[in-house]
Amino acid sequence: MTPRWLPPENPLSPEHFQAVRRPLLEAETMPPWTYTTPGFYAAEVEKIFGKTWNFIGRAARVAQPGQYFTLDFAGIPVAVVHGKDGRLRAFANTCRHRGARLLEGEGEIAAIRCPYHSWTYDLKGALRGAPEMEDTACFETADFGLDEFRLESWGGFLFLCFDPSVPDLASFLGELPELLAAYDLENMVCVRRKTWDIACNWKIYVENAMEAYHVPTVHAKTIQRQKRTISPPLYGETGQWSGLYTKHEGSRALEAGDTGFPYLPTLTGPSAEGTYYILIYPGTMLALTFDCMWWLEVHPRGPEHMHLISGACFPKAITERPDFEEVVQRYYKRWDRSIPEDNVISELQQQGLRSPFARVGRFSIMEPLVHSLDNWVLDRVVAPSV
Ligand code: FES
Ligand SMILES: [Fe+2]
Repeated sequence: MTPRWLPPENPLSPEHFQAVRRPLLEAETMPPWTYTTPGFYAAEVEKIFGKTWNFIGRAARVAQPGQYFTLDFAGIPVAVVHGKDGRLRAFANTCRHRGARLLEGEGEIAAIRCPYHSWTYDLKGALRGAPEMEDTACFETADFGLDEFRLESWGGFLFLCFDPSVPDLASFLGELPELLAAYDLENMVCVRRKTWDIACNWKIYVENAMEAYHVPTVHAKTIQRQKRTISPPLYGETGQWSGLYTKHEGSRALEAGDTGFPYLPTLTGPSAEGTYYILIYPGTMLALTFDCMWWLEVHPRGPEHMHLISGACFPKAITERPDFEEVVQRYYKRWDRSIPEDNVISELQQQGLRSPFARVGRFSIMEPLVHSLDNWVLDRVVAPSV
């Protein structure tokens, strides 16, 4: 075979992807260089993450006025701030003077003060103080407020959008809120949040999260022991999501043989008989099972790096039980064993794909959501074929 030492000259040309566009069992996998090439990654940031509603975790992280947290989403520094007027806002975390990053980490503040020359903004983003600027010609503080991004919420989760022109979050989610209404996500409490830096392209991690083909191998000693029947994949008709539903007994958030909390009393129909694994495009997986939900949030950090955040939510009443801390350890054990297994295999895949000798592969019947994610990406990144 001929090695590919360099990515193609025009990585966004449709000609490279004709085989990915075929039906699942005739298709080939994405070209390896789409997981490593800065040019392809830059197009994903601009055309996907820059234009969609990006899931950024629980609103309860900033429950009180004055609280804030920061994040770098696809290289864009953002600060989410709970204003004194009760509104949550997402600001560009970049000073309007000479561009320093303003806030770090998370905490509580009365105002946003730049660490460089002390320009100070209120919690609505308005510039309130700019020392030594009195003599500067035609300088009006009113013109130098922080840029604000769109921020909306559903089910207690925040979504961030950098594009003023895309339709609102409700149209992005489509029918998903109705499908998941019985879980009453709004009234769940996040009990734990963990983060990892992983040396792989963001697509690798999401693809892995949405197929059960790897479970007998990668999770042989952990969740493989859970027995289940997998149903055909689910696709949002109006919303930007897809998913898997599996029918089984026992909470999927526990290892086989462990017992946990009582089941949610509100579940009926399929939600009372199995678990939903939902991918909210492009990079968030929600798992909703009998007694709790957990999520995996993928933040791209470059063509070969990403940040993974996992969170877990239980109904408020369950978190108030006197035995909560003791019993929840069994859930933590399951996640703390299975998530690192996925992290390791994702890095191994990146290492293999980085080779100039890496070639395209084929899909099994168990990978429809990998194929549909790849095509969702191509729909947005690659010019339509003529
Ligand atoms: S860069 Fe912020 S005050 Fe100068
Ligand atoms: Fe896995």
